[in-house]
Amino acid sequence: MTTVNERAYAKINLYLDVTARRPDGFHELTSVMQTVSLYDEVEVRAALADQTRIILSLENAPTLGTDSDNLAYRAATAYLDAAHLSAAVHITLYKRIPIGAGLGGGSADAAAVLRAMQSIFGALENDVLYALAATLGSDVPFCLLGGTAVCHGRGERVNSVPARKNGHYVLAFGTESVSTPEAYRLLDAAFSDFDGSRASSPDGLADAWQIYLANSDTDMPSLYNIFESVILPHCPIAASVHEQIKTSGYPVLMSGSGPTVFAITPTADEARTLVAALKHEGIFAIAVTDAAL
Ligand code: C5P
Repeated sequence: MTTVNERAYAKINLYLDVTARRPDGFHELTSVMQTVSLYDEVEVRAALADQTRIILSLENAPTLGTDSDNLAYRAATAYLDAAHLSAAVHITLYKRIPIGAGLGGGSADAAAVLRAMQSIFGALENDVLYALAATLGSDVPFCLLGGTAVCHGRGERVNSVPARKNGHYVLAFGTESVSTPEAYRLLDAAFSDFDGSRASSPDGLADAWQIYLANSDTDMPSLYNIFESVILPHCPIAASVHEQIKTSGYPVLMSGSGPTVFAITPTADEARTLVAALKHEGIFAIAVTDAAL
C-alpha cells in the first residue's frame, strides 16, 4: 500500500456572475476563484488489486455518505475507470470545511483524491485528469489547480492568474445551508435574461476584474456575486452577518451559491479582531489567508 496525504482547500469567489442558462440545464458563468487556507485533510492508501474495493472513512462529518453518494468516493472510482486499473483504496477524510456553504468543500475533497490517486498511480495525462475532474463537478478542475483563477463555461474552464499580495479574509458561517441546484433554481426564477440576452454584471465590473487580474498595480474592484440577490433573502442569518460586516466597513461578499459570507481585511490583525467581534455576537467565524497548492 502507498499512502499519500493531501490538503483539500476551500475556495471563495471574489467575483461571480451567471450570464445564461444552457440547454443542458447548467449555467454559463464567469468567476474569479481564490483558494483559501481552510482545508479538509485527505489520506489515500492504495495498491493495485485483482478487484477494485474502495472504503471511505469520515471523521468529523456524521451527515455525509461514505459510498458513491460522496464525491470523494466517486473521484477514486472515476480515476480507476479512466486508467483501466483495479485497486484497493482506503480514503480517510477529516472535514473542516462546512458542508453546503459555498466554499467548494465537496469539490476540494474530490480534487484531493484525484491528486493523491495520480501521485500513487501516475496513470493519466494531465488533460485527461482535468477532463475527468470536470465530469465530477463544475468546481473540481479549479480545486485540482488551486491558487487564483478566472473560470468560465459552467466553471470548469480554468485560467490560472498570478497570485496577488497575500489576502486576509474572515469567513463567517451561519447554520443555514443551500444546495447548489436549488440556488440555481432561485436564480432562474429571478432573472428573465438568462436566455442569452444578458451581457454581464452591472457597471462594467467584469471588465474591471479583467483589468485588475492583468495588471498587478491596480486596486481590487468591487466584489460581486449574483447569487446574493436571491440567497440572502432566504437566509436571514447570513443576511444579518453580511450587514454586520458591512457596518464594520470591510468589503463583504457571499461565496459561491452561499450562504457563507466573507470579509476582506487589510491585515491579519484586523481579521482576528473582526473574528472576535463576530464570535461575541454568537457567529462562528475564522480568519484565513490566500493559499496555493
Ligand atoms: O457541477 P456541479 O455538480 O457542482 O453542479 C451541481 C448542480 O448545480 C447542477 O446539477 C446544476 O443544477 C447546477 N449548476 C448549474 N450551472 C453551473 C454549475 C452548477 O446550473 N455552472
